[in-house]
Amino acid sequence: MANQLLDKVKTRRTFAIISHPDAGKTTITEQLLLFGGVIRQAGTVKARKTGNYATSDWMEIEKQRGISVTSSVMQFEYDGKRINILDTPGHQDFSEDTYRTLMAVDAAVMVIDSAKGIEPQTKKLFKVVKQRGIPIFTFMNKLDRDGRPPLDLIAELEDLLGIEGVAMDWPIGSGQTLKGLYDIANHRVELYHKDEADRFIPLDENGKLPESEPLSQDPQFAETLDDIDLIKEAGNTFDPEKIATGDQTPVFFGSALTNFGVETFLKSFVELAPAPESHEVNGDEELKADDPEFSGFVFKIQANMNPHHRDRIAFVRVASGEFNRGLDVTLARTGKTIRLNNATEFMSSERVQVDDAVAGDIVGLYDTGNFQIGDSIYAGKKKIEFPALPEFTPELFMRVTAKNVMKQKSFHKGMNQLVQEGAIQLYRNYATDEYILGAVGQLQFEVFKFRMQNEYNSEVEMTSIGHRVARWIDPEQLDPTMSNSRNLLVKDRYDNPLFLFENEFAERFFQDKYPDVKLTEKL
Ligand code: G4P
Repeated sequence: MANQLLDKVKTRRTFAIISHPDAGKTTITEQLLLFGGVIRQAGTVKARKTGNYATSDWMEIEKQRGISVTSSVMQFEYDGKRINILDTPGHQDFSEDTYRTLMAVDAAVMVIDSAKGIEPQTKKLFKVVKQRGIPIFTFMNKLDRDGRPPLDLIAELEDLLGIEGVAMDWPIGSGQTLKGLYDIANHRVELYHKDEADRFIPLDENGKLPESEPLSQDPQFAETLDDIDLIKEAGNTFDPEKIATGDQTPVFFGSALTNFGVETFLKSFVELAPAPESHEVNGDEELKADDPEFSGFVFKIQANMNPHHRDRIAFVRVASGEFNRGLDVTLARTGKTIRLNNATEFMSSERVQVDDAVAGDIVGLYDTGNFQIGDSIYAGKKKIEFPALPEFTPELFMRVTAKNVMKQKSFHKGMNQLVQEGAIQLYRNYATDEYILGAVGQLQFEVFKFRMQNEYNSEVEMTSIGHRVARWIDPEQLDPTMSNSRNLLVKDRYDNPLFLFENEFAERFFQDKYPDVKLTEKL
């Protein structure tokens, strides 16, 4: 039994794609789903992103934005593996959810626009993934356009992100002259613009193409061979241990739009990406992924998917054991037993009932208010508690009040519940106690406003105080006169004082004025 479970766990690959908007995350996701046979037509995921997709039961705000719960987790089979892709919304939808989702994956794929290189959002997301110490794979996209030289792109990984890049394949030409991809890892060449069947040509034992292949005579191919010699001699050496800890990233090149290099990437990815491993629980105990008792943690809660039922879905990452419908679990925070009758596993095309989910899989539990973000659940007798999910420092802030002063009660109730759920961060002005909300992305405010109105019948008034740099200060060192209009003094929900600086300049100014005061950034 235990071995059967281990065999299943070994087939799981759970990852998220991180990228800056427009680098091609949606396009590559779509190609991966095509390889997995989950969708039959390119454009399906894209249509969802732009809202041209008819599904009746999304939360209104999601419909407007074209985000869907079903695309939060996409699952498919490839090469005997079950792949789970967790969506990390970008753009204006960027929120704490995006960061928290990264706590539930075993690897990340970083998609970079090869003409632009590393962009700000990629850097932010990279930072979070790096802290987890999980493998990071890189896909340099849009090779069909003129981009930066591959060597530069690899050097930038080290310069800007501090991670070694190791080439797994190498372009033959680029942009207008793109001819193919030299696949170092699989010892073959992928031709650009060739039919499915004869796209891949094996290399001979010297790493050359057969002479009968016209590309073998192409000067560009000779250039690629020179580059390969160079990177083999002067580049980073492939090091599985460094890859496992996120200190080295395997780099792939391609063009998601023209489905070039994507399968080459996927083939290596499923081999190199880790299956779910053990988790640290109860402080310092190791919980193995094939431990027979079911356990998991809630990393995301999505509300009101169906406005008629006011339901929520708690997304649970399975960490051990096997999930079956009707399972009784204990919620570690309260000790309460809950029967999990109504659970959903996510396929890209539809929601389906879960039959078996093991470590690495994500199940969606219909929730009537039992769960909070970060909750641990377990089925065995022994209590299992996962470490708290990190809180992420908000960057956008709003003052918030109830529109109708007569409805203070529902305002406070809604506010408390949504803050507890982790939907948004709450602060209070140190002097006046006025409420200030903090978020990582604008969408969090919109969802908050929408839910306050729809779930708690409380209309809220919000005024932006814009972008701020939040820094905590030791209460011992605090002197309220340090506060002025450029550094608003507030307290968090645990009453810890912090300054919201207007910008980094204001923070530096403050530090110059009070050199002994220690400011900290939470992550
Ligand atoms: P995102 O999810 O990371 O935001 O990016 P998305 O896949 O939506 O891609 C952003 C734009 O880049 C899209 O063009 C997409 O077609 C294009 N793109 C993605 N991969 C490649 C590639 O390999 N080569 C080229 N040349 N373009 C690529 P768009 O004009 O914004 O949208 P659409 O007109 O295609 O709908």
